[in-house]
Amino acid sequence: MRIAIGADHGGYPLNEQIIEELRAAGHEIEDFGTHDGSRPDDYPDYALKVGEAVRGGQADCGIIICGSGVGACVAANKIRGVRAALCGDTYSAHQSREHDDCNVLCLGARVVGSALASEIVRSFVDARFTGEERHARRLEKVLEIERRETTGDQ
Ligand code: RB5
Repeated sequence: MRIAIGADHGGYPLNEQIIEELRAAGHEIEDFGTHDGSRPDDYPDYALKVGEAVRGGQADCGIIICGSGVGACVAANKIRGVRAALCGDTYSAHQSREHDDCNVLCLGARVVGSALASEIVRSFVDARFTGEERHARRLEKVLEIERRETTGDQ
């Protein structure tokens, strides 16, 4: 799978660990940094890069890591076509794919431990949208909200 990943200074060095693990599992990584946790930077910059890679089809899914995961998730969900899930447990991680067809995982490096983060990433990456009628119906309603917000129609 092609996975885009980005992290601000708060998400470093968890991003390095996750990249290494995903590469070892055979995934192709588009790495947007940061590789320097000592320099304060801005999570929206990474959310935008990862989100655009997913929306543009260069990546099958994305991972964004910041201190709490909250800012990254808020920013990523502003990008049309992105459905970002902030996950601190493995159940939410796989269900966000299976039911909600999320395509970006957000993690809080200051919240989850490194071992749990690895399991959350595996749960997310390995799961797929089930396409069941009730989930497809709900997803279509989410997409309709996005369409209305984009066009300004009421
Ligand atoms: C950076 O200190 C921190 O605010 C950022 O990484 C993130 O947690 C925002 O939600």
